[in-house]
Amino acid sequence: MMRKLLEGKKGIVTGVVNHRSIAWEIARHLAEEGAEIGFTYRRERKWVEKLAGSIGADFIEPCDVQDDQQIRQVCDKFAERFGGIDFIVHAAAYADGEELQAGVINTSRDGFLRTLDVTAYSIVPFCHYARPYFRPGASVLALSYLGSNRVCAGYNVLGIAKSALETTCKYLAADLGPEQVRVNVISAGPIRTLAAFGLPNFKEMVEKRANQSPLRRNVTQEDVAKAALYLMSDLASGTTGEVMYVDAGYNIMGTWADSEVGSAMVQG
Ligand SMILES: NC(=O)c1ccc[n+]([C@@H]2O[C@H](COP(=O)([O-])OP(=O)(O)OC[C@H]3O[C@@H](n4cnc5c(N)ncnc54)[C@H](O)[C@@H]3O)[C@@H](O)[C@H]2O)c1
Repeated sequence: MMRKLLEGKKGIVTGVVNHRSIAWEIARHLAEEGAEIGFTYRRERKWVEKLAGSIGADFIEPCDVQDDQQIRQVCDKFAERFGGIDFIVHAAAYADGEELQAGVINTSRDGFLRTLDVTAYSIVPFCHYARPYFRPGASVLALSYLGSNRVCAGYNVLGIAKSALETTCKYLAADLGPEQVRVNVISAGPIRTLAAFGLPNFKEMVEKRANQSPLRRNVTQEDVAKAALYLMSDLASGTTGEVMYVDAGYNIMGTWADSEVGSAMVQG
């Protein structure tokens, strides 16, 4: 029988709030390939418990990523139960809706710092407290968005935080690389999730994007989960510090023809 891609691997998935969460689809894919998964939640245990139960997982711990003690406890408890850590999926992000509406020019110090803390800094204590338990070949994954390096309407302070997150992951990749721990980022296209619905213009952006992307569609949670599976598995053994776009190719575009003209050109 063929060995599953993540047979024997055990790790922590953050950021599941409901069945639409990107982290949930990632967890499902990792579990299908043999991984054992521990979940964290911020407030919503009931939903996470239900979803985790559907893949036979029962390690479910509270973890507000702004709280170092909780992060430490999750890593300690997980390693105690599973004997080590092979992967961490970081999928937590936060920005106040009013601050997003108001634009970067009106962002408060508190709003800025909280967004940076949840969205970017929190991956540092996760890697720090997991470090003693990481097994060689371990893989850490964070989720980002194009707003990290381009101005994307409505993304505002989150874009600044994603920029910090991507750079933080590169430095973490350098710190942990000698221990054979990889740290990578997936920059996903817009997907309808709870967090995304809090973004101004999200609905309009998703509709436009489908026509403007080379693949002429938006990506799904499943597209991201398949890329995550690659990065978490030994297939990506030589890849670290990378930002991989899973966005139907949108990020390569400079200018747009309308889709009719674009298609006519391709067909000759
Ligand atoms: N949906 C998209 O269009 C999209 C695109 C690119 C990247 N992302 C990123 O994907 C990740 C997952 O988001 P999603 O779209 O699946 O939405 P989601 O709402 O399902 O998940 C966001 C998660 O962040 C968690 N969170 C917020 N503050 C937290 C805190 N203080 N402590 C612990 N957890 C906290 C929430 O509990 C929730 O589980 C985020 O990093 C997001 O920025 C999303």
